[in-house]
Amino acid sequence: MEIVLSGIRPTGNLHLGNYFGAVKNFIKMQEENKCFFFIADYHSLTTHPTPADLHGNVKQVLVEYLATGLDPEKSTIYIQSDLPEIAELYLILNMNAYMGELERVTTFKEKARKQPENVNAGLLTYPSLMAADIIIHKASKVPVGKDQEQHLEMTRTFARRFNRMYKEDFFPIPTAYNFGEELVKVPGLDGSGKMGKSEGEGNAVFLADDPTTIRKKVMRALTDAGPTEPNQQKPDYIDNLFSLMKLVSSPDAVAFFHEQYNKCAIRYGDMKKQLAEDIIVFTEPVRQRIIELSNNPEYLSKVARMGAEKAHESARKTIGEVREIIGFRAF
Ligand code: TYM
Repeated sequence: MEIVLSGIRPTGNLHLGNYFGAVKNFIKMQEENKCFFFIADYHSLTTHPTPADLHGNVKQVLVEYLATGLDPEKSTIYIQSDLPEIAELYLILNMNAYMGELERVTTFKEKARKQPENVNAGLLTYPSLMAADIIIHKASKVPVGKDQEQHLEMTRTFARRFNRMYKEDFFPIPTAYNFGEELVKVPGLDGSGKMGKSEGEGNAVFLADDPTTIRKKVMRALTDAGPTEPNQQKPDYIDNLFSLMKLVSSPDAVAFFHEQYNKCAIRYGDMKKQLAEDIIVFTEPVRQRIIELSNNPEYLSKVARMGAEKAHESARKTIGEVREIIGFRAF
C-alpha cells in the first residue's frame, strides 16, 4: 500500500485537463492506497484572490472532487490551510532552497513573464510549498499531469537534501504517477498546447459546463481547410482534437476520423460534433452531482471537518519528528 497525495489549486472550476491529468487517477488510487487529496488554497494566494472568491473556489473544488467520485470515507480529503504544519515545513524547507534553482523553474519563469507586475516570493518558492504538501504525509506517489513533473523533481531534491543534511533516511522520495505509462497532457481547444483555466476564454471545457456551452466551445475549436495530401502530418491544433477525442470517444470513432483525415475526406464539423457529444456524455452525470452537492452545505462541512482531522493527525506526527531531527527540542 502506497501513500498517495495530490492537490489542485482552487482558482476556478475543474476542467478536463484536471480530470484526465489528475482526478481520474485519484479515483482509481483511493481503492487500494492510503490517499490524501487536498485543495491547495495557500498556493492560490500567489494570484491575490479576494476573500469571497477564495472561499467560493475552495467550495467549488470540494464539490467537484466529490462529484467526480472521490470518497471521503476511503480518502482523506482536506483543505490545505486547515493544516498550519504545512506552512511550518515550508518555512523549514525554504532555508535550504536556493535562489538559483528556484529561478530556473519553468513555471516560475513563465509566470514572471506573464505577470511582471506580480513576481512575488510565493511564486518563487512555490516548489518548496509543494514539496511540503507532499512530504508532510511522507507520500511516495503523486498523481499529477505532465505539467507538474518539474515541481516533483524539485520535491525529490528537497527531500533528498533534508535526508542528507540530517543523515536520516526520513522522507521517502516521491514520484509522479499516472495509470497510463506516461504522464498526461490534455491540450486546450484554442490550439494552445495545454488546457488550463488561465489560458483564455474557450480553451478549457469545465466539468460544470452545460451541454450548450460545451457544444459552443468545441465547435469554436481551431481547425483549418483540411489536409490536401493523403497521410499528411497533422498540425498541432488538429492533433489536439484527436488527443481530446482519444480521452472521451470510442476507439472506433477515433479510428474513423483518422482514416477520413488520411484520405483527405475529413469534415471537421462532424468530428467536432462527435467530440462535443462524447464530452457531454461524460460530463453530464458529474454536472448533475455538482448541482446536488452545491446545495448540501451540511455535508460539505462534515467532509471538510473529517478530512482536516485525519490529515492533521498525519501532519502533526511528521512535523513533530522533523522538529526533533533538526534540533527544536523540548527542555
Ligand atoms: P493545478 O491546480 O494547476 O492542476 C491540478 C492538477 O491537474 C493537472 N492538470 C493537467 N493535466 C494534464 N493536462 C492538463 N492540461 C492539465 N491541467 C492541469 C495538473 O497536473 C495537476 O495534477 N501545483 C499544483 C497543485 C499542487 C499539488 C501539490 C499537486 C500543489 N501542491 C502537491 C500535487 C501535489 C497545480 O498547480 O496544479
